[in-house]
Amino acid sequence: MNQYIIKGGKKLYGEVNISGAKNAALAILPAVILADSPCRIENIPDISDVKTIMTILSELGAEVEYIDTHTLKIDPRTVNTDIVPYESASKIRASYYFIGALLGRCCKAVVPFPGGCNFGVRPIDQHLKGFSALGCDTHLDERMIAVSSDGALKGANIYLDVVSVGATMNIMLAAVKAKGLTVIENAAREPHIVDLANFLNMMGADVSGAGTDTIKIRGVASLHGVTYSIIPDQIEAGTYMAAVAATGGNVLIKNITPKHLESISVKLIEMGVTIEEGDDCVRVIREDSLVKCNVKTMPHPGFPTDMQPQITVLLTIAQGTSMVNESVWEDNRFKYVDELKRMGANITVNGKIATIEGVETLKGATVSSTDLRAGAAMVIAGLVSQGTTYVEEIQYIERGYENIAEKLIGLGAEIDCVPKPRSLIEKIS
Ligand code: EPZ
Repeated sequence: MNQYIIKGGKKLYGEVNISGAKNAALAILPAVILADSPCRIENIPDISDVKTIMTILSELGAEVEYIDTHTLKIDPRTVNTDIVPYESASKIRASYYFIGALLGRCCKAVVPFPGGCNFGVRPIDQHLKGFSALGCDTHLDERMIAVSSDGALKGANIYLDVVSVGATMNIMLAAVKAKGLTVIENAAREPHIVDLANFLNMMGADVSGAGTDTIKIRGVASLHGVTYSIIPDQIEAGTYMAAVAATGGNVLIKNITPKHLESISVKLIEMGVTIEEGDDCVRVIREDSLVKCNVKTMPHPGFPTDMQPQITVLLTIAQGTSMVNESVWEDNRFKYVDELKRMGANITVNGKIATIEGVETLKGATVSSTDLRAGAAMVIAGLVSQGTTYVEEIQYIERGYENIAEKLIGLGAEIDCVPKPRSLIEKIS
């Protein structure tokens, strides 16, 4: 396994380009199998989760061709099964989008239970509630989920008991070719949901209301292939904004949609950071000390839970006492706090609330990435720490961040990516 070696204490200056949105790509790529002709998808992030989705598409029989690192041509006409193999699909959470996509394509899906970041139980009851409302039967065993409908799916009214990004998108995928009207109420409103709806509508679907809490889907007979470009990644952009805010400096973050970053910008401004917005870019400037603030994670347009670890690092060096309330996921999303404490952070976690007393600085240590966004937070902590930080388990980070080390080095950070030295035990065993 590789590790990042980060020499902290350097401010960040320059420009960084944001890649396509991971959580949009992970739903749009499975949706390609709904089409009856090839799709060309552009601005795809070069990350391992996307590679896993591509492997699954190939295992289903689709013709997958990389035009370049960020552009794919996918021909779904050769898809020849409704069973998703266990090995690849169990690695990531987004493999469950193949349930909705296969139901939309052929009214049947057999898909492994999803994998993904381990921060507590990650149920899929709202997904199954939606499929059942559309007329499907579901059978579960310890590894697989089988969902099927005798004949075409039928439109239905579905009220989500929990605002769920995954359930909202999975039900959209299953409903686009169902008979009649489907209404999803209490739907999630994230930018990647709007991106999926736009992609489906370009293919000939009839989806309205995406981005609001009520989405209407009128079933159509067929969908055709299109060329589509994925939106910029809101969370990758927010992560670089947090990195500059942490180290201090002046960075132009390019290829973004400022509106998607509003809740992040507001919090950084509250902490004393200067944010200058352009049409497709944002400049982040931090010269004075950071000031405490309180954060509560919420479904979009609230402060994103996928920015929670990153903003917590900022608050560890902000003047005063701050509180972070994780209202979307269980308190397991604070697992990374123990790693920050080893770097000198003063944080107390009580259930879903972390109380943070700002300290002068953090000090370098060897820390582990407990999940994707926690790993990114460890990198930010390394950038601000005095001394050297070793970030281990970086494969989690590389699931969702394209070339994060190179992009940060381009801003003046001192980072090496090296194989983790074998321990003495490993050497003698
Ligand atoms: C998506 O996960 C993202 N992953 C997550 O980002 C993100 O944290 C999350 O949305 C919230 O924004 C992908 O898009 C691949 P949810 P998802 O369904 O869809 C509960 C990252 O770092 N729930 O919106 O799995 C659930 O337990 C990843 O990119 C149910 O109770 O999240 C949670 O408390 C990490 N029943 C809440 O809803 C269900 O059937 C939100 O989950 C589904 C969810």
